[in-house]
Amino acid sequence: MPHTPLTIAIDGPSGSGKSSVSRAVARELGLAYLDTGAMYRALAWHCLEQGLDLDDGEAVTQAARDLPLDVPTDPDGQSVTVGGTDVTGAIREQRVTEQVSAVATNLDVRAELRRRQREVIGAQREERGGIVAEGRDITTVVAPDAEHRVLLTASEEARLARRSTELHGGADADQVAATRDQIVRRDEQDSTVSAFMEAADGVVTLDTSDLTFDEVVAAVLALVRGEVVAQ
Ligand code: DC
Repeated sequence: MPHTPLTIAIDGPSGSGKSSVSRAVARELGLAYLDTGAMYRALAWHCLEQGLDLDDGEAVTQAARDLPLDVPTDPDGQSVTVGGTDVTGAIREQRVTEQVSAVATNLDVRAELRRRQREVIGAQREERGGIVAEGRDITTVVAPDAEHRVLLTASEEARLARRSTELHGGADADQVAATRDQIVRRDEQDSTVSAFMEAADGVVTLDTSDLTFDEVVAAVLALVRGEVVAQ
């Protein structure tokens, strides 16, 4: 049924579950989906492939401006391509995960990717009636006027356990320790340019530490549908 265009902005740190939750919410509501982290990852992948020094701000900014990036917006078909090459798997590899913050903390890069993100959001509001966009600065900078803005948080323990299970297939003490180094350091670095550990004014915080995936999706849907949310 046609409705007023809708943007749902979702931010959160690593392991808050925002990507899978956002995709499920988009699917449920028949909206487009944008994973903005994938854009930073694709740029980092491209720079590494090109042998660029990620600390060379000017070179990386130029690469961002020239990047032939296509990030699909169908919640069921996420193939990210750079210049026609499918990089969907490559951008999740460890070398990219470890180095992506160097790219994401470059303010000129952020300006360029935010411009592209706003373009996608505007186009999808027209074409598909709306979009769920997720990242670190969507609620605050990319789409502060979104109809719904949610910050997904979770205790450090819960986030580490989730990421450890994704990365290492389990969450025993060694696996969690290996994950901690990677995740905590990256969130600290990323926090220097976006405030995603605390909600800005008007942003609803949803603590997912003790919720199942289905419960988090239901809570976001309830919020969007104007039902009462317990936070
Ligand atoms: O969510 P993710 O792990 O795929 O994000 C990849 C990197 O990009 C991570 O270092 C945080 C950064 N990022 C950002 O700075 N702003 C966004 N809107 C999305 C991601």
